[in-house]
Amino acid sequence: MKKIILLSILLTSMAIAQVAKPIETPYVDYPIEAGDHDEVTQQYCLICHSFGYILNQGKKSRPYWTGTVQKMVNEFKAPIPKEDQQTIINYLVKHYGYEATASGH
Ligand code: HEC
Repeated sequence: MKKIILLSILLTSMAIAQVAKPIETPYVDYPIEAGDHDEVTQQYCLICHSFGYILNQGKKSRPYWTGTVQKMVNEFKAPIPKEDQQTIINYLVKHYGYEATASGH
């Protein structure tokens, strides 16, 4: 008898868990600068996360953006063809970064 009561409590709580409201995460749409094939950057860099990740970095150097794009590809398996990686890096350096100076900064 005890077992049946326990089982029915368990089933009831499972039913409650199932009707619980789905959790909604807010979708924040970050506008990004147009031009220099921004559509390529949008196509690949929005697959996993929003542009917030990119905008939050502030202005970064070419080596930083090169390394970041490579990290997305090598570590997180972003499916970005080589030629598109270069297009994206150029876009990011122009709009969200700067070319490295002679002193390396
Ligand atoms: C396959 C999924 C995926 C794709 C596609 C992707 N990213 Fe990421 N990105 C991640 C993950 C996972 C993190 C790490 C999240 C964390 O640590 O909270 C991340 C973090 C970042 C960060 C934060 C800084 C850092 O180094 O962790 C930046 C900047 C970034 N991504 C830029 C990009 C850019 C630019 C692109 C397009 C070339 C891109 N991401 C495409 C998965 C992806």
